[in-house]
Amino acid sequence: MLRIDGLSAWYGEAQALREVSMHVGKGEIVTLVGRNGAGKTTLLRSLMGLHQAASGTVRFLGDDISALSPHKRSRRGLGYVPDDRGVFATLSVEENLTLPPVMGPDPWSLERVYETFPMLRERRRFPGTKLSGGEQQMLALARVLRTGARLLLCDEPTEGLSPLIVAQIGEILREVKAAGATVLLIEQNVHFAATVADRHHLLAEGRIVESMDNDEVLAREHELLQYLGI
Ligand SMILES: Nc1ncnc2c1ncn2[C@@H]1O[C@H](COP(=O)(O)OP(=O)(O)O)[C@@H](O)[C@H]1O
Ligand SMILES: [Mg+2]
Repeated sequence: MLRIDGLSAWYGEAQALREVSMHVGKGEIVTLVGRNGAGKTTLLRSLMGLHQAASGTVRFLGDDISALSPHKRSRRGLGYVPDDRGVFATLSVEENLTLPPVMGPDPWSLERVYETFPMLRERRRFPGTKLSGGEQQMLALARVLRTGARLLLCDEPTEGLSPLIVAQIGEILREVKAAGATVLLIEQNVHFAATVADRHHLLAEGRIVESMDNDEVLAREHELLQYLGI
């Protein structure tokens, strides 16, 4: 579904991504792990067209989308859930879900969103500011599904959330996958990553330095957490 070849990106003189190549197959959940500053967010922003890569190609469903605007990438079915979740504080949950225009090819109905996220139905009149961090994360995920994304680019969805809420996010990601969506997930909670994802890439100084399956991540959990500084 997504194929990245030799992607490099810079901020001025500083190189943030170095020839990153990887792919995500349809229906897969693939994670990116790496220390702070490794380039994870820059990779997602480059895939979305929010940061202009200097070289390399991004193919989505076989088409080279490297030169397309973020808007056009959304129309093709890429959806971005930023690390700050991007919830509109003054709007209600339902307005957060319904105001962003449907862009992608596979929009979820409001009813389907509420069936998958019953908590959002209960809170539908609440303003964004009244939601907990976990609720905001669910709203951000739900919104990207409602606008029609087929490939979700999620930046640290479990950061700062309690274990119970992390488990709920895991359930939702599994449901999203079962519904046919594909996810590229930035995740520092490697144990969680190994329970929801199919494959993992370790990014260091803008490079993919290792690729691991779930068994390898679980076997190396302690070492990885130490390396990540968690
Ligand atoms: N807007 C920016 N301007 C300049 N440098 C940036 C900017 N955003 C990120 N960087 C730098 O790029 C590198 C990668 O950052 P980032 O992609 O945010 O890493 P991660 O998400 O893995 O923590 C870091 O060295 C960071 O300081
Ligand atoms: Mg980041």
